[in-house]
Amino acid sequence: MRRKLAAGNWKMNGTGAALSELETLSQSHPQASVDILICPPATLLSRAADSVAGTEISVGGQDCHLEHSGAHTGDISADMLLDAGATSVILGHSERRVDHSEHDEDVRAKARAAMDAGLKAIICVGESLEQREAANTLDIIGGQMSGSIPDQSTGENLIVAYEPIWAIGTGKVPTLEEIGEVHDFMRTRLERRFGEGVGRSVRLLYGGSVKPSNAADIFAVSNVDGALVGGASLKAADFSGIIQALESA
Ligand code: PGA
Repeated sequence: MRRKLAAGNWKMNGTGAALSELETLSQSHPQASVDILICPPATLLSRAADSVAGTEISVGGQDCHLEHSGAHTGDISADMLLDAGATSVILGHSERRVDHSEHDEDVRAKARAAMDAGLKAIICVGESLEQREAANTLDIIGGQMSGSIPDQSTGENLIVAYEPIWAIGTGKVPTLEEIGEVHDFMRTRLERRFGEGVGRSVRLLYGGSVKPSNAADIFAVSNVDGALVGGASLKAADFSGIIQALESA
């Protein structure tokens, strides 16, 4: 059985004052039947980890370097994230792929570093609008999965998030059939590459304009094991609605 996961990505949002949202969130979910993860900016990570200690919530990073340490000004290693209290790290988000020219091989090397350090890697894949309109979404997703997911992946250390680029922060969401088609495809790819046992145990998240109002429908789609949420994870009340929808799915 795959345990469901509601993951929030705060992106470059939040200073110390935002930690009160985390407190509200943990008070709203003293017991949870799903995993809850918040990935705040790196500057808040260790304070966030302290504030959720002993609660149902865990915290994660939004990126890491592929090396464990060294002369890389401004970068953060997986070991540092772990030391700050992270359990997981988002890798290969489309904003990183665009803003920092990250390619599949970079994402794969970062994922290796994260897994070696003992973090779960949440690897993001997703097509652009042009790619969807050209009807090669599954080719794109398959290629990104082959290129970005390392061989050492297991159901414990790998989570894959399907995030159509055109759905991120736009309020546009694929149809439930389109989400199901991609998630079933991703499951089959993982089973073929890693065998049925591992392939079936990797959690698959959908991300892109998930809100309390559309979450229940999305969570009813086959092979959707949770969500990676941007904007609606910034306010505890919104994210709580998504968590509740996942708990009832
Ligand atoms: P959004 O972002 O929920 O604001 O669309 C999703 C994401 O980038 O993970």
